[in-house]
Amino acid sequence: MSTGREFMEKTKYKHLKESDQVQGLPQPSLADGIEEGAKVIDLPAPESFKVRKVDLSEAIVTRTSIRNYSSKPYTLEELAYLLYMTQGVKEVTTRPATLRTVPSAGSRHPVETYVLCNRVEGLKPAIYRYAALDHKLVEVNTGAGLDDKVTAGLYGQQMVKHSAVTFMWVAVAYRSMWRYTERAYRYMHLDAGHVCQNLYLAVQGIGAGCCGIAAFRDDEINAVLGVDGVERFMIYAATTGKLD
Ligand SMILES: Cc1cc2nc3c(=O)[nH]c(=O)nc-3n(C[C@H](O)[C@H](O)[C@H](O)COP(=O)(O)O)c2cc1C
Repeated sequence: MSTGREFMEKTKYKHLKESDQVQGLPQPSLADGIEEGAKVIDLPAPESFKVRKVDLSEAIVTRTSIRNYSSKPYTLEELAYLLYMTQGVKEVTTRPATLRTVPSAGSRHPVETYVLCNRVEGLKPAIYRYAALDHKLVEVNTGAGLDDKVTAGLYGQQMVKHSAVTFMWVAVAYRSMWRYTERAYRYMHLDAGHVCQNLYLAVQGIGAGCCGIAAFRDDEINAVLGVDGVERFMIYAATTGKLD
């Protein structure tokens, strides 16, 4: 059987083992927090966002993948807006679970957002992580030549180097697997799709465009992000940037 067919077969409910959740094992954290000593950047609060109103039906119909961007930088508020629209935490319920601006199977929200910031006012070009529960940015990698390294990891696609910000979504497998065992591997990809669709729509509110990216060199990009590629792995990415 081919790998893909085997995956679809073996992730049917009839093959699944009892989940860690059913066995009473403790629930993993809802989201990555902020490590001791990490460099943290405050972001403008969602209530303060001043974003152009966009008609939803029009945004859906006119949405298209855009791969060429102007050299205009984002403001920190524009970046904060895109982060909140794609992963923002609206509420932490008593379950506990996070309710966010995107849906997620079982509200497990296995996705962590990393951003390569090439052009954001007031931000050093670097890779940051969005700490969704705190609505803050955490500095991850400030090394030299990161734009080239990320571009190489994303299959050499030049739009990455020219983007204002490239989003990279990392799946934290156990957050979903705790509840869904092997079937979680289906759901993580679906969850990431919802995240990117929100990005496709939200960029229109700030006069920007984006392009989803699934062509990437797994080991290379995971190494740049500092994730192990097994428990945590990049699952999807998208370039973004201003149109004029
Ligand atoms: C899952 C997924 C992966 C994609 N990966 C890439 C990619 O690696 N590089 C790229 O240039 N476009 C990529 N795209 C964009 C598609 O090429 C694009 O959506 C398609 O050509 C249709 O164009 P439209 O989005 O303008 O309607 C991807 C889109 C999706 C949904």
